[in-house]
Amino acid sequence: MQTTLERNPAEQIAAGALIVPVFEGEKESRFGAARLVESGEVAGKAGEFTLLHNPAGAAAERVLLAGAGKAARFDAAALRKLVAGSVRFLKEKKVLSAAVLLDGDRSGDEFASAAVEGAILGDFELDRHKTANDKKALASFAVVCPNGAATLEAAVSRGQVLAESQNFTRALASEPANLLTPLAMAAAAREMSQQQGLECEVLERSELERLGMGALLGVAQGSAAPPALIVIRYRPQQAASPSHLGLVGKGVTFDSGGISIKPSADMDKMKYDMCGGAAMLGAMRAIAQLKPPIAVTAFIPCVENMPGSRAQRPGDIVTAMSGKTIEILNTDAEGRLILADALTYARRQGCTHLVDAATLTGAIVVALGHIHVGLFSNNDEMRDRVLRAARAEGERMWPMPLDDEYKEGLKTPFADIANVGSRWGGAVTAAVFLKEFTEDTPWVHLDIAGTAYLDEAQPHMPKGPTGLPVRTLVRLAVEWTN
Ligand code: BES
Ligand code: ZN
Ligand code: ZN
Repeated sequence: MQTTLERNPAEQIAAGALIVPVFEGEKESRFGAARLVESGEVAGKAGEFTLLHNPAGAAAERVLLAGAGKAARFDAAALRKLVAGSVRFLKEKKVLSAAVLLDGDRSGDEFASAAVEGAILGDFELDRHKTANDKKALASFAVVCPNGAATLEAAVSRGQVLAESQNFTRALASEPANLLTPLAMAAAAREMSQQQGLECEVLERSELERLGMGALLGVAQGSAAPPALIVIRYRPQQAASPSHLGLVGKGVTFDSGGISIKPSADMDKMKYDMCGGAAMLGAMRAIAQLKPPIAVTAFIPCVENMPGSRAQRPGDIVTAMSGKTIEILNTDAEGRLILADALTYARRQGCTHLVDAATLTGAIVVALGHIHVGLFSNNDEMRDRVLRAARAEGERMWPMPLDDEYKEGLKTPFADIANVGSRWGGAVTAAVFLKEFTEDTPWVHLDIAGTAYLDEAQPHMPKGPTGLPVRTLVRLAVEWTN
């Protein structure tokens, strides 16, 4: 898709459709919309689309009046969603060139970025494995901003980098487990790194054994597909910050549950159990292009969790890289095991701050549904940094507790720690387990089990991976101070 910034008046923009946000309670009288607004046919409610052909006074073939809700509540996140929904609406009608009008209070950088992101995210299709050749992609998209500042060009290209990286994550995350094995994921990481000028190292089984990653290897041992730990390094030319951010993502390419096998209903969704890892790859892709002033390294432990004669058993005791022993009481609680070793390795590689993202627990879906990411942290400042970045990106996150009392549930007479506690507060005990491996390093854990993919399509997004929390992670790095 070709993305451009137009500073000419909206009336002069030639496009298949010009998207015009219409606000609740506000009069839009351009392009022949006056009577529709007066009659109430166009009310400006969020999600309302009205397509006008041969609109009065416009060079565009069509005007799409897009309901935007109340103007006072319309922020960049709302615009991103509105543009994505509009693009999906237009594509249904085979309109493949579009523009969006940004005027009034919506002429700033955040809005211009969000508009481009909306278009690229809305254009995304999961039809890679469909053989029919009627696939349609948006050919061009323009941000029309007659009163914008000189910084808008940069904002538009930043939006493009972010959304393309988020789509990279979505595409990778949706690949099925027969095609995307741990080593295939490592190959994808290598290819991306080479294209973006990043350093990529893949640690294979023998190296993981040498490092003593018993927790990760225990999960991997049931699968014929060997494990891999992907490490991708970004180093700024002039580091303005002494900090070193580590991004750790769960890369379980398929989670059958192992010997503690899952029920068959919805087991296909467990191909998404590498969404956290895919998000870290997407974030590194954007970071390579936006060049933040801080060193960032991604660590992505990749395994397949399978049952079989070589699989680990409930009751097994493994020794993690940190030296702690873990009793495996449920082989389906595998994410925390591979993350334990990856977090230890990240600390030993010199990371001063850590963020992990993982489709870790069904319990977080019970707690927060599909709206908010569950956020856990051992450090208030780090928690606030991530929450601020998330808020600015419209990726909703909710702080969750991490009190020491929750650790009681992970006590076992047979090892230092058990990998599961009781049923209650399952998302918290999973986070408390991870905390044991972060020691005193400031760390945020993002449980994205409810938000990394959609079970049902929404107007602005198809069913499948969402690409969360790529934008938050990139903003965290780009806006890093100290
Ligand atoms: N990958 C799952 C968590 C998950 C559940 C992700 C639903 C997306 C949707 C994870 O490995 C898992 O199986 N967790 C168990 C933990 C339990 C055994 C303590 C769970 O949540 O049931
Ligand atoms: Zn599991
Ligand atoms: Zn899992």
